[in-house]
Amino acid sequence: MKNYINIGLFGLGTVGKGVVNQLNDNGSLIKKRLGREIRITRAVTANPDKERGIDLKNIQISNKINDIINDPEIDIVVELIGGIDLAKSIILQSLKKGKSVVTANKALLAECAEEIFNAAYTSKGLFGYEASVAGGIPIIRNIRESYSGDKIMEISGIINGTANYILSSMSEKNETFLSALKEAQEKGFAEADPTFDIEGIDAAHKLILLMNLSFNAIFDFKSLYIEGIAQIEPIDIEIADDFGYVVKLLGKARDDDKGFEARVHPTLVNKNSILASVNGAFNAVQVMGNFVGETLSYGAGAGSYPTSSAVLGDLIQIGRALSSSDTSSPPPLSFQIEHLRKKQILPIDELETEYYLRFTVLDKVGVLASLTKSLGENNISIRCMIQKSKEHVPGLPVAVVILTHIAREKDIRAAINEIDKMPIVTSPTRLIRIDP
Ligand code: HSE
Repeated sequence: MKNYINIGLFGLGTVGKGVVNQLNDNGSLIKKRLGREIRITRAVTANPDKERGIDLKNIQISNKINDIINDPEIDIVVELIGGIDLAKSIILQSLKKGKSVVTANKALLAECAEEIFNAAYTSKGLFGYEASVAGGIPIIRNIRESYSGDKIMEISGIINGTANYILSSMSEKNETFLSALKEAQEKGFAEADPTFDIEGIDAAHKLILLMNLSFNAIFDFKSLYIEGIAQIEPIDIEIADDFGYVVKLLGKARDDDKGFEARVHPTLVNKNSILASVNGAFNAVQVMGNFVGETLSYGAGAGSYPTSSAVLGDLIQIGRALSSSDTSSPPPLSFQIEHLRKKQILPIDELETEYYLRFTVLDKVGVLASLTKSLGENNISIRCMIQKSKEHVPGLPVAVVILTHIAREKDIRAAINEIDKMPIVTSPTRLIRIDP
């Protein structure tokens, strides 16, 4: 046996550089824990000659994928290039050759779950993907190992640091959406294409991964309801605050009597709840098991070092298995492969929750009556309401916000559809779901 674990690294971007730096700094400590050194001998990147400002000595760098895949001496392939097609090909080829793989690629794992996990289950190599969800929070390991004696009933949380950073800045510092986004990008939280963060797609990738892991299933990513934060305006944050709520981008999935409910969207959470105090780029994931009860894991969910730390954790775990006579490890999705099933997510129309509805209407006689009549006819019961306008200027639009009791999404949509056609409505109604 070599006295080191040999790593081939794909990608020298934000996380790849973090992995190199962390190994440079903590290498001797890691060797004492693992019993062998972890050594990156090869790296593949699109721009091998680019100056990266980190110590890359002893690493052979090229832009040829096969330099790593065909090197029989590489034990673990680390995939940190992101994206779907090329990353998939690298991972599948590596697993086929019996190499172990560590990846942070939630988009790939969520959208091509069946293909990738089948390959991971059947390969001689081991598979680690802790870095794909919530950066430095070991949530994959918690669910796969620590809670493997529980039936998981619910997962929910703040799983996109960029969106949380933006919403926190808008709320705490009255920042505009764009300046908060710019700051998040400068700090390295945002994806290369921030649309994924803002539109909720990144959070959705992570939620599907957590669902697959928790509910012994493969869910179709395309069937998940996703709504981003781009529609949230300062007025929503201000009115939510008046009512005792903060706006958070939540991912939530539940296994209940009717089936699997799952969704990613901006949500009003009570200011007194734990999730309300999770600010900036921090993530928090709540898992509820039928015996463990409620649990909460909190930490930095994005950025170079929290993510590289998760990569290193996987490398050490796999390194330990490769160093022992028992090279098995927990099944990648916790369940044995023969028990994994394809499962469906309930349509969003069947959701039942409380709603915040912001109507933009002309301030004139009978307007409220028209709104409440339509809500009533659609089985929607009103909990409270407020009208926001500095002064009464007949003919100018005002914001009327209504909070509902628990209602069905289908009824809410029917009512909004009806109301938005009324001549008194000057802009489309905004809806934010409330976490009751
Ligand atoms: N862009 C992600 C986020 C980090 O903001 O949470 C990587 O998952």
